[in-house]
Amino acid sequence: MRVGIFDSGVGGLTVLGAIRKLFPQVDIVYLGDTARVPYGNRSPETVVRYSLECADFLLGRDIDVLVVACNTASSYSLDALSEFSDVPVVGVVEPGVKEALRHTEGRVGVIGTRATVKSGSYQRLLRSFGAQVFAKSCPLFVPLVEEGLLEGEITERVARMYLEELKGKIDTLILGCTHYPLLKPVIRKVLDGIHIVDSSEAVAKELLDIVEDEGSGATELFFTDNYQNLEEIIERILPYQKLSVNFNKALFP
Ligand code: DGL
Repeated sequence: MRVGIFDSGVGGLTVLGAIRKLFPQVDIVYLGDTARVPYGNRSPETVVRYSLECADFLLGRDIDVLVVACNTASSYSLDALSEFSDVPVVGVVEPGVKEALRHTEGRVGVIGTRATVKSGSYQRLLRSFGAQVFAKSCPLFVPLVEEGLLEGEITERVARMYLEELKGKIDTLILGCTHYPLLKPVIRKVLDGIHIVDSSEAVAKELLDIVEDEGSGATELFFTDNYQNLEEIIERILPYQKLSVNFNKALFP
């Protein structure tokens, strides 16, 4: 089987890592839209257009399932993608919410990009199950991860600035952005004792019902732009993965 995964950039590689852990044999094709990242500050119409272009690219590569490994794209484009795609489409929002509901006593925090939080996608779904929701956008987290500042004084101060206000209000926190799992240790330091839901792991588990673990185990990575420290970031996100990687460039008109 071949799993297609796309993200606005490199964050979705955390999802790829979680999928590869559960499915060593499947073939994976990943597309990171590095030429147009971040999606998190763009309008809904633009996010939908970009998402459809990414899906079109992957569907042209004979995939059996399409994983939207970007919370922003999942928040705005899932309906359009499901209509467009002839294979099952799996986003990150629903699996993250399901996982949170398994752990929470009713007070859930969600952190994500501005666009994800503004879309209300997590809030609506969580509230429909009766949870109390506290959502917060953390726009500096993505550049911190991309700069490799995964810990240390600056990152901790930024994390405190965003997260202190959630202390005492929540028992579970959803990492509603695919970059954030890399900041888990710092987030844990600030919000000690809170259950953290990594939506990358949640989406991988969701595939257990859809994906058979068969194939050659190949991983193919495509990016729409090769910026300077891209390979370094890939290595940082997937350090333990033995990937057979074809580094390719995908171009959109
Ligand atoms: N990968 C995106 C997400 O999960 C974050 C980066 C972006 O803003 O494009 O929302």
